[in-house]
Amino acid sequence: MVAVVIPAAGSGSRLGGQPKQLRTLGNAPLLFHTAQVFDHHPQVTNLVIAAAESSMEVYTEILQPLTKPYEVVMGGATRQESVMKGFSHLGASTSAVLIHDAARPFITQQVITRVIESTFTYGAAAAAVAVSDTVRYGENGRFTNTISRDGLYSMQTPQGFRYELLAEALHQGDLSAATDDVELMQHVGHDVCIVEGDPRNIKITTKSDWEWANQMWNAREIHP
Ligand code: C5P
Repeated sequence: MVAVVIPAAGSGSRLGGQPKQLRTLGNAPLLFHTAQVFDHHPQVTNLVIAAAESSMEVYTEILQPLTKPYEVVMGGATRQESVMKGFSHLGASTSAVLIHDAARPFITQQVITRVIESTFTYGAAAAAVAVSDTVRYGENGRFTNTISRDGLYSMQTPQGFRYELLAEALHQGDLSAATDDVELMQHVGHDVCIVEGDPRNIKITTKSDWEWANQMWNAREIHP
C-alpha cells in the first residue's frame, strides 16, 4: 500500500484572506486539485489529509468526489506535527508513505511515479530541481556572499519514505527543528535519494504565486 499524507493545516497567512487550500483554482478548491492528482495515480492506495480543526468538515466535503479511501484528520501547530498526526492514522500494512504539500497542485503523475520507484529502491526519496539562478545572501539592502549553485537543489514534494523508516524518524527526530521530511530522515542518519522534480510543481505561497498559478491553470485547461 502506498499512502499519501497531505499536510493542509496551515493558515496560508502570507496569501491573505481564506486559507489558500480552500481558494478556488479553475473549477475547484486548491486542495481538491492536489488530492486528485494522487487519487488518479495507479500505485496510490489511500490519502490522509491533516486539517485545522475548523476546516475538517469542509475538507471532508470538498474531497468527496475522490475515488480512493481518504481520511481528514486533525493537524498540529507546525507542518511536522501535522505530518506526524497524519502518519499516526496509517495502518501498518502501509509499505510506503508520500508526503505532499497541499499548496502544490501542479504535481505530475510522472514525478509521483519517480518518487514511488526510488522510495521502494532506496527507502527514502524526494523531488527536487537543480538551482539555475545565481544565489546570493543580502543584508541591509546590499548583496553579500554568493553561494556556489553547483550541487544546490530547490526541494519540492512529494517526499517518499518506507513506512518503518518514517516511523523511526518521526519517533526519534526533533520535530521542531526540521523544515521538511528529508531533514527529519537525515537526523536519523538515513540517506535520501534525489528525484528529478518539475519546475512547474511550485508551492503557492504569495500573491504573485497565486496569479501565476491561475495563469498556469487556465493555460492547462486550454492545452491539457
Ligand atoms: O506554510 P507552508 O506553505 O510552508 O506550509 C507547507 C504545507 O504544510 C502546507 O500545505 C500547509 O497547509 C501545511 N501545514 C500544516 N500544518 C501546519 C502548518 C502548515 O499542515 N501547522
